[in-house]
Amino acid sequence: MDIHERPRRLRRTDGMRRLVRQVHLDPGNLILPVFVREGASEPIAIGSMPGVFQHTQSSLKAAVNEAAAAGVGSVMIFGVPSHKDANGDAACAHDSILADAIRWAKEEVGDSLPIIADLCLDEFTTHGHCGVLDANGNVDNDATLTQYQRMALTLADAGADILGLSGMMDGQVGAVRKALDAQGNIDTVLLAYAAKYASAFYGPFRDAVESTLEGDRKSYQQDPGNVNEAIREVRLDVAEGADIVMVKPGLPYLDVIARVSAEVEVPVAAYVVSGESSMIEAAAAAGMLDRERAILETLTSVKRAGADIIATYWATEVAHLLNR
Ligand code: PBG
Repeated sequence: MDIHERPRRLRRTDGMRRLVRQVHLDPGNLILPVFVREGASEPIAIGSMPGVFQHTQSSLKAAVNEAAAAGVGSVMIFGVPSHKDANGDAACAHDSILADAIRWAKEEVGDSLPIIADLCLDEFTTHGHCGVLDANGNVDNDATLTQYQRMALTLADAGADILGLSGMMDGQVGAVRKALDAQGNIDTVLLAYAAKYASAFYGPFRDAVESTLEGDRKSYQQDPGNVNEAIREVRLDVAEGADIVMVKPGLPYLDVIARVSAEVEVPVAAYVVSGESSMIEAAAAAGMLDRERAILETLTSVKRAGADIIATYWATEVAHLLNR
């Protein structure tokens, strides 16, 4: 045999494979998304998201403490209010479920674990859109920014270390940064969902937040066929002051993660969303694949594509696996 290169040499043993491995998952780079349900007296299982719950105050505190103890990098909170209205005004109230949940989480972890608050109106609006509607029923970009500014001040005031701007309105990063700066708040970090696609993979999340969405989000979230648009969105968000940019979903958009991470100097996050997780959970439950291996391979792929940070519902579990 006339073989000069034998790549298999470096794959022979566990030790050899570990020695040459390029990409490693680290609990510190993982974000755990959690849901907190206003008025819940016990944790409520989410049918389409196996293992994920709408938390109460005390189960949120337990989840935050467990994540912190396992070394997870951050917890991202979504609030599920018991009252919605057309403009999502409840999202801007100082005692909103989201603001309360931030305070509960901070009581547990203080500054040791950065807490991210989702900054978007969709959980709080009766029509389920990420913004307010104009007289014709279209999402009114600039009127929405005013609400985002109010919401940002409330969430920062409650103690959020990072605001996750997930609404995909034009100018949202600049508007929120300006509102924070005007208060002398130079410390709150802005995580911009810069390249967020109009995706079928958000289906289970909408159960988790009891979404009442009428129609779809195609007029503000990106078209799955586009990649240049993602670069444009990211460039604008960085120019407006984004500290971290995010690509979402993860697995179906690995090429976008790779392009974005080659383009920017700020950290790049990717969100392995509800539908991606539920797909693997359902296949594993049906005996079709090895659950743990599929999870680790998925997250490794996202990191290999260029994500510095990964938001995943498996964050705490994976942190325990990595610590083992
Ligand atoms: C909306 C929001 C969505 C997700 C996070 N923030 C859903 C949507 O845009 O409809 C999806 C997350 C997931 O599917 O896990 N603010």
